[in-house]
Amino acid sequence: MRRGSILTLLGIGVIAGGVAAAVAVLLPWLPTPASREAGRIDFVFWFVITICIVIFAIVAAVLLYSVVYFRAAPDDDSDGPPIHGNTGIEIAWTLVPTLLVTAIGIVSAVVLAQNDAQGSDVLNVDVTAQQFAWTFTYPDARITTATLRLPKGRSVLLTLHSKDVIHSFWVPQFAQKEDTVPGLTTTLHITPDRLGTFPVICTELCGLGHALMRSEAIVMEPAAFDTWLKKQSQAARSSNAAVSGAAVFSDNGCGSCHTLIAAGAAGKVGPDLDNLPAEAQQAGKPLQAFIHQSIVDPNAYVAPGYPQNVMPQSFGSSLSARQLDALVSYLVDSSKKG
Ligand code: CUA
Repeated sequence: MRRGSILTLLGIGVIAGGVAAAVAVLLPWLPTPASREAGRIDFVFWFVITICIVIFAIVAAVLLYSVVYFRAAPDDDSDGPPIHGNTGIEIAWTLVPTLLVTAIGIVSAVVLAQNDAQGSDVLNVDVTAQQFAWTFTYPDARITTATLRLPKGRSVLLTLHSKDVIHSFWVPQFAQKEDTVPGLTTTLHITPDRLGTFPVICTELCGLGHALMRSEAIVMEPAAFDTWLKKQSQAARSSNAAVSGAAVFSDNGCGSCHTLIAAGAAGKVGPDLDNLPAEAQQAGKPLQAFIHQSIVDPNAYVAPGYPQNVMPQSFGSSLSARQLDALVSYLVDSSKKG
């Protein structure tokens, strides 16, 4: 091969590789990682992308060079010369991909093992998914919230459950996804390493409100997190005697499907709860009895324009009598104001 040809090939390869690298680096393909696990996954991503860019540059160079310099003349209808293989090239194109894929496999296995390894002092959080809301329980502090708060730099083990259908827990900045499956317990290990508020997204089609099944993960300084947890835990214990209807409303994710001005909720899947008095009138029931029935047996009366079987039918059994009473009076009071 002439020296000029090699230089041309090299030139095309460098340009093609440069364009591919610019597309990879300059466009924001992935969110900035906010956990150690996501950082490692990012590393695997860039390891594979680098290999891909080099292969792309080589293929593009040979391809473009051949198209330009080995083009058949317009009147050339002859067959190409008969060729019978090239042992050297065949060994190379078998060996090189084998080595590359093995390297990717080893790097991925190391990252998987590291991501599953929990540090000491693990924070346990139970994640419950239901149509169409997330709730987070801190078993040691015995509190339940609608927003996931996590301390920076500490190993967190999420234990995931579903009350109804398959959902999937995803915080893009944590890079991992984990399904919640009825009847099964799944786990996800996270070590947040960046302060901020990130979206919690349901990433498994789970029904009418799937697109709205969102919450937030807030990564806090460890000291601020401990203070928050202690305060919540004390508040939960002192208010145990008087169950708060507002807390039942938010802990059970009512606001992700329903609008209720008093709760700052703007859900659009189910009827607007500020219109409860009008709905009760239409259903021909006293307000309090109507609300109670609609929570315990949601299909008994479905507001016009809304389908049946979307509202979970499990609240009658999952809420205690005290919680149910508190929720009903809360809705009576707030809807009258609304
Ligand atoms: Cu829950 Cu989609």
